[in-house]
Amino acid sequence: MSKANIAVLVSGGGTNLQALIDAQNNGIIKSGQIKLVVSNKADAYALTRAQNAGIKTAVVSKEECGSKAYMEEKIISLLNQNNIDFIVLAGFMVILSEKFTKLYEKRIINVHPSLIPSFCGEGFYGLKVHEAALKKGVKVTGATVHFVNEIADDGEIIMQKAVEVLDNDTPETLQKRVMQQAEWIILPLALEKVCSELK
Ligand code: GAR
Repeated sequence: MSKANIAVLVSGGGTNLQALIDAQNNGIIKSGQIKLVVSNKADAYALTRAQNAGIKTAVVSKEECGSKAYMEEKIISLLNQNNIDFIVLAGFMVILSEKFTKLYEKRIINVHPSLIPSFCGEGFYGLKVHEAALKKGVKVTGATVHFVNEIADDGEIIMQKAVEVLDNDTPETLQKRVMQQAEWIILPLALEKVCSELK
């Protein structure tokens, strides 16, 4: 297959999107090309990052669409219009339905800020994941990149990286270390791996 056309779905700051853009620029990602960034939040800074990199953006929000089902339909038609082969969820805070995930079986990956199966599933997102890890007192956490199915954080694991928890960590300091030492490294590597294996 020639380069896969990639769409990245985002909701927030977009540091993982930035890691993908950087990896594309420095040749770590060579089997795919980011063609589209879709946000469900109009004020997501991730949109600015995409625009700065010259990548096409779109906003499709549940509020505007009236329902999650219609929001998903709109996203799917955007993906079709842009000939998207592969989807990355990079801080996308919506759990996609079975209807959506079945259309892209083994063609959607997600980055999650813990070592799955710890601190994952519905309700575990963003800082909440790190709050739960600190509350439990784990000494090691990390990040996971996995394929996406209709169950939150349940799909096959592609890559994981462990990160040490320090005694004086706050959810914020832990989140930052997990991003720097794990997410921003394994997301581009995992994306290149799966795109290079696409048939
Ligand atoms: C990241 O830590 C990502 O792993 C997490 O949200 C953050 C988004 O940051 N995703 C989840 O919790 C999904 N369950 P970013 O917008 O700066 O990439």
